[in-house]
Formats: sequence, structure tokens, C-alpha cells
Amino acid sequence: MCGIVGYSGPGNSVNSIIEGLSRLEYRGYDSSGICLKLNGELQVIKKEGKLDNLKEILNKMNPSSHTGIGHTRWATHGAVTTDNAHPHGNEIFAVVHNGIIENASILKKELQAEGWEFKSQTDSEVFLVLLTKFYKQTSNTLQSISKTFNLITGNSSFVIIEKASDKLYGIKRSAPLVVGENKETREAFVSSDPFALVGFAPNIYFPQDGVICEGVVSETEVKFNFYELDLKPSTRIKSQANAMTMDANSKGDYEHYMLKEIHEQSSLVDKLAGFYIKNEGRKVIEDLDKSIPAAFHITACGTAWHAGLVIKNYFEMDNRIRCFVDIASEFRYKNPILNKKEVGLFISQSGETADTLACQELCTEQDIASYSIINVEGSTLFRNSTKNFLIHAGREIGVASTKAFTLQALTGFLMSRAMSKTLDKPEVYQEIITLSQRINEVCENSEQYKTVAENIFHKKGFIFTGRGTYFPIALEGALKLKEIAYVHAEGYAAGELKHGPIALIDEDIVNIAVVGPELFEKTVSNVEEVKARRGVIVTVGPKNNSELEHLSDFYIGLNFDGLPNLAPLMVNVVLQFVAYHIAKLKGTDIDKPRNLAKSVTVE
Ligand code: M6R
Repeated sequence: MCGIVGYSGPGNSVNSIIEGLSRLEYRGYDSSGICLKLNGELQVIKKEGKLDNLKEILNKMNPSSHTGIGHTRWATHGAVTTDNAHPHGNEIFAVVHNGIIENASILKKELQAEGWEFKSQTDSEVFLVLLTKFYKQTSNTLQSISKTFNLITGNSSFVIIEKASDKLYGIKRSAPLVVGENKETREAFVSSDPFALVGFAPNIYFPQDGVICEGVVSETEVKFNFYELDLKPSTRIKSQANAMTMDANSKGDYEHYMLKEIHEQSSLVDKLAGFYIKNEGRKVIEDLDKSIPAAFHITACGTAWHAGLVIKNYFEMDNRIRCFVDIASEFRYKNPILNKKEVGLFISQSGETADTLACQELCTEQDIASYSIINVEGSTLFRNSTKNFLIHAGREIGVASTKAFTLQALTGFLMSRAMSKTLDKPEVYQEIITLSQRINEVCENSEQYKTVAENIFHKKGFIFTGRGTYFPIALEGALKLKEIAYVHAEGYAAGELKHGPIALIDEDIVNIAVVGPELFEKTVSNVEEVKARRGVIVTVGPKNNSELEHLSDFYIGLNFDGLPNLAPLMVNVVLQFVAYHIAKLKGTDIDKPRNLAKSVTVE
């Protein structure tokens, strides 16, 4: 979603801002812009479309400016147009915004009635106009920020620069914001993501909600001041060294990040087992059996929700612990029944997903512990949770989540084994090593999945089916395909087709059927029902199976031996490849699919 980068210092702000915004491109956006202080004036340059469009204008202008803010916008209020792109600026301030101002339309009407004019359809401009209004009354920027922030509702982060100084200002409510400084070079930075500041700002600070950050650069030093909304000094900031690295920021020899990330899974699975069973992770996981909760409330979104469904199976089968799995945007508004002996379990790659964060807050308010299965150390969810189980996936750049899913589910499996005190059984480690090897074999067979894709990519629709532990895999396979190939795909429990969706079946619909060893015959019967209605059949099931071979138009045989619990994760990698190859044949933007954002920071 929206990316923010701000700079103040002796260097040319354009360089750090554009570099920072480029690093945040993977998050998804539809326009970009920058505001620079040039000859004492605020100059806004913005453009609809890719960041390259903005770079082209900047290359021609070749500006040099010591203070500026930049933004990549993922549209919420107002169409994708250059006018609606950020920054929004006037003769006093320029503002960039990430999030939603929920009461924007009421405030806008009031401001218009007072005679204020708006140049865009965005909610963000309301912040700029309010800020300007209060500044005209007070001539005080901090006071104006505080008054404006007090009036708006919703979750947002804002970064502001002003004509009157070279200061950088930031403030947030339940949205990501980080500020950073480099004392040696006397530079101040602000961003929505610490990744944008890697290599620029060794010291970073995470302000809490409602803390006003003020970056000041002078001839001799750089520093950040922090204020509460009553303008008293604030200590509600967490400071840390920026431990992120740029290593993952290269595709290597792979054509897409998604492909690279699919291939990384085998070794990451191996490493995660080592971490939690044999190395430092052991102490994080081993005491889980000491206080087993009465129930888990798992909440997550998208792929992470599918991982939650897989984990529910592990927890319930191994431990008979009741597990509720909810989509985060539903859980947060359903007035859930929670009690203190239960635990909220949040699954998130980014740790910044607005709905998942809201569920975590709700659990904290109701005084129940929060566990997170999470990739980004230091993210908001990570900071707010009682216990974190890191998945150690490294940076996931492809918008379509691949390795995060596998490692989330595997982390859940390891937690489940720790609760059932079976973590040390040799077969547990052995099964994970087998999974790692099988994922490798799947990767080596990529050409086979490509051939399948070549034969089906032009079809009208895709129905993924599976039973039991393969049902969430069917959901995930369908999600992957629709998000990167822009084709209609649905995941169903195989036994559910005849209750409605079977009406869709004809020779232009493909059934990608996962037929696991459990409930094999019943799942085969479901596939027969589709075949009888002339659907195209692709099966993924145990290898060398003549029944599947006979039944299928395309048959992908896999070795399920030695994977009594983890075979669904192997099958899922096959579906990742199928989606990838179909998307490639369709010519879509695989790493940055249209309309999607890597980290969904608005609800
Ligand atoms: O960062 P999170 O894991 O919280 O993100 C949750 C979903 O937005 C994410 O999994 C999304 O569904 C992916 N695009 C799926 O590939």
C-alpha cells in the first residue's frame, strides 16, 4: 500500500527519496509524487502510474533540494489520477498520507462551507486544509498538527514538510511510521517502512500513536524531538538499530521474485526446523506445553488465513485444543466470545495488516494473551504481541505470498509438536527434512507444471478442490491463481461441489483437484462427478496411481511417503508453480499484480 519517504539534510533529497520509494514499490501502488523545497518554495511533482513516470520528469528537471517528501499511492478515496496522487501541497505545507481519514467527507463539507477549496478527491487533502487553517490561526506548526490530528478519525500516518523550515514532521495512528537519523552525515529520514531507510539511517525510532515527530537538521547536528498532542515531550518511542539488510533485494538469476521465493522454500524449511528444534528457537517454543490455553483464536487475512486453517488441523489433531479461525476483518467486528484462559494467535507476513492488528488490539483490550506467527521482526504486530514465533522467511517481495505460507504453516506444526511434547521425536525432524527434499523435487519438475499450464491457461474458470487438510490448500491455490493471473478461480471442499458450484462445470472449466492419500476414494468420486459434466481434470495426487492417471486430463503424481502431516505444504508448491506459469502465459505483472498491495495497511 502507500509508501512514504521523507528526507532533510545536506544531500540531495531526491536521491534518497526515489531510492526509498523504489524499495517500497513491491508493496503495490498506482501513482507517485514528490514535494521538494526548491528556492525556498514547496514544489510538488506527481504522476499517475509507475514510479518510472515520475523519475522521467525528475531526470529532465534534475532538481537539487535538501528537504523533500515522496509517496507511492494505492488509491482508496478518489480515482487513480495525477491530481489525487500525493503529496498534496499549498504555499505553506505539503503532506503525504498512508491510511484512511474516516470522517473526511464530513470535515470536507464543513471546510468547503467555510470557503476552503480542494484540488483532489482524496481524504488526505482534508488533513492539509485543516493544517493550513489552524496554522493561519496560530502560526505554530506543532499546534496545528496536534489540532488537526485530534479532529480526524481512522488509522493513518502523515508526513509533513513546510515552507517555513527544513523540518520533517510525522504522526500516526495504527499505521506504520518510522523515523531515522544518521548522525555522521547529519541527515533525517522518515518512512512508512524501515526497509526504505536501510543503509541511510543506522538509528531508527518507532513512535507510538499520537506522538508528533519533529526532525531537525542544523549546521552541526541532526535530531528528532518527540511530543505528545499537548506538546509536552514524549517518551513513547522505541528506538533501535536498523537491523534490516538489502540482501534479499535482488532477483538473482530468476525472472521474478515470486519464482525466486518459491525456490527458496526448500532451504528455508530446513533452516526453520534447525532453528526451532536444535538451535536458539528452541527456548521460544519449548515452554508452550507449560501453559496450554483452553482455545486458540486464530485471525489473519488472505494467504495467512489459509495458513491458519492448516494450523488449526495440526493443533486440533495433535492436541485436541479447540481452535477458531477467523478472517481478521470479520473477527474484529463480531464481538467475539473470548475468555482469559484462551489465546489470540495472529498470523501475518508483514506484521502491518490493519485488520489483523485490530484483532490483536481487541484481544489485548479483553486481556487475553497475543501470540504471533510472523515474518517481519520489529513490525507493529511483532512489537505488540506477548509472544512471537518468527518464520524466518527473509524478505518476501513478490506480492503473491509463497514462502511465507509454507513457513507459517510449518511454524504452526512445530508449535503444535511442542505443545504435545513430541518436538524431539526423531520422526518430527525427519518429516521436515523430507518435506524440504520433496519441495526441491517439485522445483526440479517445474517444466511439467508449465506444460499443464500451457494446456489450460486459456480456459474460462478454475475450481480447486481438496478434502480435509487439502481444503485450505485448494483455497490457497485458487487465491494464488486469481491474484497473479487475473482469472476466475475458486477453492472448494471437494464434497461441496454438488451443493451448487457443479452448475458451473462445462468443457471450459478446469477442476484442479488435490487428491491426497486420506479420503482418497471419496475425493476421486468428486472428481468423477466433474468429469461426467465434461470439466477439464487436473489431479495432483500420489504418484504412479493408475486410477488418477485414467481419470485425469493432466495428472501430477507426487511422492507422499514420509509426509503424514506435511504433504499439503508440498502440494501447495505445485499449485504455486501452476499459478506462476499460467500468469506468465497471460503476460501479467507477476510480482506486482494490478490492484494489489503487499501489505494492506488500511482496513
Ligand atoms: O502481511 P500479511 O500476511 O498479514 O498479509 C495478509 C494478506 O494480505 C496476504 O496474505 C495476501 O492475501 C497475499 N497477497 C496473498 O498472496
